[in-house]
Amino acid sequence: MFVRFIPLVVCLVSFLRSFHVSGCDHSCADKPVFTPSRLVVKYGDPTSANCSVCQHCQSSFGLEIPVGNQEINGTLISWTVDHLTEWGLYPLCYYTAAAGHQCCSSLEITVYKPPDNVVLNITGNSWVWSEGQNIPLECSVQNVAPVENLRVTFYRGQRQLGQKQSNKKGDKPVSETFHLDFTSTKEDNGGEFWCEAELLLGPDGPQPPPVVKSRNFSATVFYEPQLNGSSSPDPITIREGDPLHLDCSAVGNPEPTYMWVNHQSSNSSSSEGSVFMITSVTPADKGLYACIVHNDVGNTTVVFNVTVRGREFYTTTVENPTTVTNPTTMTNPTTVTNPTTAENPTMTPTTTERNRSSSSVLIHRFIWCFMLLVSVLV
Ligand SMILES: *[C@@H]1O[C@H](CO)[C@@H](O)[C@H](O)[C@H]1NC(C)=O
Ligand SMILES: *[C@@H]1O[C@H](CO)[C@@H](O)[C@H](O)[C@H]1NC(C)=O
Ligand SMILES: *[C@@H]1O[C@H](CO)[C@@H](O)[C@H](O)[C@H]1NC(C)=O
Ligand SMILES: *[C@@H]1O[C@H](CO)[C@@H](O)[C@H](O)[C@H]1NC(C)=O
Ligand SMILES: *[C@@H]1O[C@H](CO)[C@@H](O)[C@H](O)[C@H]1NC(C)=O
Ligand SMILES: *[C@@H]1O[C@H](CO)[C@@H](O)[C@H](O)[C@H]1NC(C)=O
Ligand SMILES: *[C@@H]1O[C@H](CO)[C@@H](O)[C@H](O)[C@H]1NC(C)=O
Ligand SMILES: *[C@@H]1O[C@H](CO)[C@@H](O)[C@H](O)[C@H]1NC(C)=O
Ligand SMILES: *[C@@H]1O[C@H](CO)[C@@H](O)[C@H](O)[C@H]1NC(C)=O
Repeated sequence: MFVRFIPLVVCLVSFLRSFHVSGCDHSCADKPVFTPSRLVVKYGDPTSANCSVCQHCQSSFGLEIPVGNQEINGTLISWTVDHLTEWGLYPLCYYTAAAGHQCCSSLEITVYKPPDNVVLNITGNSWVWSEGQNIPLECSVQNVAPVENLRVTFYRGQRQLGQKQSNKKGDKPVSETFHLDFTSTKEDNGGEFWCEAELLLGPDGPQPPPVVKSRNFSATVFYEPQLNGSSSPDPITIREGDPLHLDCSAVGNPEPTYMWVNHQSSNSSSSEGSVFMITSVTPADKGLYACIVHNDVGNTTVVFNVTVRGREFYTTTVENPTTVTNPTTMTNPTTVTNPTTAENPTMTPTTTERNRSSSSVLIHRFIWCFMLLVSVLV
């Protein structure tokens, strides 16, 4: 019979106690003092705190907390717990003052738990993109507390793509997925994408704050050839006998292929490589040279307009500013390199044998070749 009443009695006593304490004054002059004043504890770890209740009170004081051990020495209450496995604790230290009213202090406890796992995912599940695509990244943080202290950062390599925080509240562990959209660029190709979850617990928390990272994902971005230089370089004027060096190097994924079309010979029109070279130009080498840079995604064309000056004419017009041969701008298609770089073995030049004929025929043939090539490509 009596056994059946025990829960009721316990319930009633705890109700009365909480009623008793909740009527208490948190702003009295001589309130109990907790040391430390704030606790940040990892779930399952030991912790302790002391409450110095008051100077002169003799009885009717206490510490309200459902876990751990309490020891009282005079008016000092020492609380310890070996494994803190409770969420949402609000310990209260109180005493009854002479006038009959109660004085209280509460101890702020943050119990935290780093996430079990952090997973980066992508809606659609593909890490192969094209340029300019909208990429919806997702970072799932599993079983973390407290979620309001969580900050999630998305990265490509060491570069931050964005940060997100939860607007949820609550003491107990939750899982949450954070979203970040961005637009893919060619720089993302080969980039390592990852996200990390960080618990910002303030100066009372562990230093540095706990961090859990996702695994890395490597992205592939396909993009059409992008020229290092301009697609319509300035007209090039070159002296007869000098080397001609045309460069239309570009970046692209897949790696682009190069085709050169010129009016000289069908032999050279299918030559590959980003650099076109003639070791010693003759007046007949003047005209248009087209470089078609192509990959599976798209194509770009560069047309170089080359004028050749005869030796006699050239020597009388040395100061012509358009005849610049700047050795420091090898990769710029608008310039012609000087003779000392002509034999550079790293440039893999395509040197061409040429036939000579009248220039109007040549222009026609050039246009014809170009059209033919474009139609073949299409
Ligand atoms: C609490 O008080 C006891 C006795 O004065 C001391 O040994 C202990 O370090 C104190 N604990 C904290 C958390 O201040
Ligand atoms: C109680 O505290 C006093 C000093 O504040 C100390 O000397 C004494 O040993 C303590 N008693 C116990 C049982 O810890
Ligand atoms: C990633 O997202 C896809 C759908 O967008 C889903 O099917 C898959 O289960 C997710 N993977 C993980 C590990 O969450
Ligand atoms: C993930 O990528 C980052 C940035 O490139 C790198 O620092 C880190 O070591 C990589 N982690 C793993 C597990 O490969
Ligand atoms: C120019 O293009 C080549 C590829 O042909 C590339 O390796 C190089 O980095 C590019 N240079 C610049 C400055 O973009
Ligand atoms: C150029 O093409 C002709 C036929 O069109 C061929 O006879 C000649 O050998 C080629 N020259 C070179 C250098 O490939
Ligand atoms: C090529 O350049 C010359 C002189 O700079 C100019 O007269 C000619 O019109 C140009 N041709 C083309 C097709 O741009
Ligand atoms: C180039 O000239 C040679 C003779 O010099 C001739 O046999 C050959 O057919 C010519 N090639 C073209 C494409 O006109
Ligand atoms: C080259 O680009 C043009 C338009 O930019 C396109 O119409 C054509 O199909 C492309 N050709 C190839 C071979 O990709």
